Amino acid sequence: MNVSDTEIVWSILQAAGYDKTDSSAHADVILVMTCAIRDRAETKIWNKLTHYRGLKRSRSQKKNFPPLQIGILGCMAERLKSELVEKERSVDLVAGPDSYRDLPRLLATASLTGQPAINVALSLDETYADIVPVRMSADGVTAYVSIMRGCDNMCTYCIVPFTRGRERSRPIESILAEVGHLSEQGVKEVTLLGQNVNSYRDTTSSDSDPNAQTITAKGFSTVYKPKRGGLRFAHLLDRVASVDPEMRIRFTSPHPKDFPDEVLEVIRSRPNICCSLHLPAQSGNDRVLERMRRGYTRRSYLDLVERVRRVLPSVALSSDFICGFCGETDSEFEDTLSLIRQVGFNTAYLFAYSMREKTTAHRRYQDDVPPEVKQRRLVAMVSTFREEAATLNKSLVGKQQTVLVEGVSLFFVILIFRL
Ligand code: 5AD
Ligand code: SF4
Repeated sequence: MNVSDTEIVWSILQAAGYDKTDSSAHADVILVMTCAIRDRAETKIWNKLTHYRGLKRSRSQKKNFPPLQIGILGCMAERLKSELVEKERSVDLVAGPDSYRDLPRLLATASLTGQPAINVALSLDETYADIVPVRMSADGVTAYVSIMRGCDNMCTYCIVPFTRGRERSRPIESILAEVGHLSEQGVKEVTLLGQNVNSYRDTTSSDSDPNAQTITAKGFSTVYKPKRGGLRFAHLLDRVASVDPEMRIRFTSPHPKDFPDEVLEVIRSRPNICCSLHLPAQSGNDRVLERMRRGYTRRSYLDLVERVRRVLPSVALSSDFICGFCGETDSEFEDTLSLIRQVGFNTAYLFAYSMREKTTAHRRYQDDVPPEVKQRRLVAMVSTFREEAATLNKSLVGKQQTVLVEGVSLFFVILIFRL
């Protein structure tokens, strides 16, 4: 998501006359695209800022150079707002995820006044639909296309609804135009992006029934009232896949609740939609899932996996898991390990819980699992996942697969030199 946002920011800055440099030592402006999902993501940024502060100081000693401007963009900017400039005086600009269009003005204001410029207003409709991203992927083979922003789910541990704001979707015609353009440029794989990508709902189109209720996967519930009207993800996916049958389509990151059967049917019927699904489970224990406010039980999650495998027998599954969430006991955690074993994921993103201010968990629960226990559980998740993934990988030995060559890997280069 941050790569995609950076591509949007590049486009806005380029139109305002800015040029790109690959070296921070040559830059007049350094903008840092940030994440706030876990405390560690923010620690990395604070460390980077110490370095940039040094660059700013040495720049101020050089004659005939404008002062270096430093800006913080994205979720950490949105979360900390003016606190950022109070804590780090070298920061000139703070811009949240919905204020990138304002960047040229913010840079000019900060430079004119010598005071930090801040815009952290969240929007109900900003999707940057009309902005053609300046692609950062060097391979020219793959590209990201942002289709929606924000999240209405309010999982109790998660800061995203507070930093990215409410869900809103980009109009379908603008997505199709971008995908068509990428196909003409020879791009071979497009990844549709959104915080909650399969909650897609384009309400700007007159093609949809305004009373049609959004259908969730069986056994899944939402914290919000059922939404009505709008073109849904199944429709979008089908249209995107038909733009260029030779172009691979992927999407991330979805929520398991938004996999009604019709989405699975579209994936089955379109060979160019990659048969790999991300189904973030977060935990394998019902009490923890309830505290997380995920809107499903272990049983309904497993039923979904079964349905997915019935419709898409060769599907590769990936997931996200958090260990050490508030109040998680050893036996509750064991259920997560057993779910990882039972399903068998090809890929997994595994995290130790990090308490975030503003979230429901921060208000309601205690971050009472000691750090060393979280760490031990994380190690256990990693090794359980690896054992299962190794079995899945072995089952592919000797089989033929179509692969997309994205570039030469460093490992491969080393091998060639050795030969
Ligand atoms: N602590 C740890 N992991 C988190 N995630 C979201 N919020 C937190 C948190 N507070 C994880 C979830 C999500 C992924 C993007 O990050 O697993 O799916
Ligand atoms: Fe966060 Fe994902 Fe839950 Fe939204 S659905 S609140 S982004 S974990």
